Amino acid sequence: MALAFITGGGTGLGAEMARCAQAQGWDVAILDLCRDAARPILDELPDVRFFEGDVAREDTVVSALDGLGAVPDLLVNNAGILKFGSLLETSFDEFARILNVNLTGAVNVSRLVAARMIARGHGSIVNITSTAGIATSPGVNAYAGAKRGLAAMTEMMAQEWGPLGVRVNSVAPGMIQGGMSRSIYADRAVADRRASAVPSRRLGAEADIANAVLWLASEEASYINGHELVVDGGLTKATMSMIPRD
Ligand SMILES: NC(=O)c1ccc[n+]([C@@H]2O[C@H](COP(=O)([O-])OP(=O)(O)OC[C@H]3O[C@@H](n4cnc5c(N)ncnc54)[C@H](O)[C@@H]3O)[C@@H](O)[C@H]2O)c1
Repeated sequence: MALAFITGGGTGLGAEMARCAQAQGWDVAILDLCRDAARPILDELPDVRFFEGDVAREDTVVSALDGLGAVPDLLVNNAGILKFGSLLETSFDEFARILNVNLTGAVNVSRLVAARMIARGHGSIVNITSTAGIATSPGVNAYAGAKRGLAAMTEMMAQEWGPLGVRVNSVAPGMIQGGMSRSIYADRAVADRRASAVPSRRLGAEADIANAVLWLASEEASYINGHELVVDGGLTKATMSMIPRD
């Protein structure tokens, strides 16, 4: 059975990826900060293995990879944090932590896993970026740079590791009703107003992202490498439709 290793899989989009991956026949392992926070998905999917760890701490990632007992066929770098705030009021430490988790952590976990995949001969990595790294807005803070940086690193990793049998792609979610945005869209009026700005006229669901990730990992996508798949209902391509016509 192919093995999927999902960082930040304890809640939100990552938990949905675990759910969908298991339904498609994957063996699933999760790395996340806190087992208690992951309790609902672990109770729901008792076969899923959980490793407590921090993507920004090499020792915890290595001990999870050693504990897996097999090399993952799929790594999803999904762990992420977003702290809205003015750039001028963000401390050096806060800025560094956001980059450390979303960018440096994802690339470092990729390097550790890719080395194992290359030794074994094949593998697929999917990085979760964001449309906030494509079309950003004030207050998105270090997250915007981290996500755009991760898209760039995806392209580089694809070129370095493609010849060695490892594909690296990214998925950029748009406005998703779930995960870290769940509280924003708990307000129905906000959800409806934002959905009306999306060409597909709805917000995204967690499953939209999980499906895109698993498709990129599948044989059907075996010739896709270094690509950022934007899953946003067309929002980031809709700039001109927001310009007044007269
Ligand atoms: N929900 C959205 O609207 C949305 C939109 C665009 C992109 N994303 C991206 O999707 C991914 C998943 O986010 P989500 O919406 O499910 O949010 P979430 O907060 O529900 O889940 C993120 C998970 O990552 C874990 N995590 C955070 N820091 C970690 C670390 N240092 N090490 C290990 N695990 C860590 C958290 O504990 C949590 O379980 C993130 O990369 C996020 O940036 C989400």
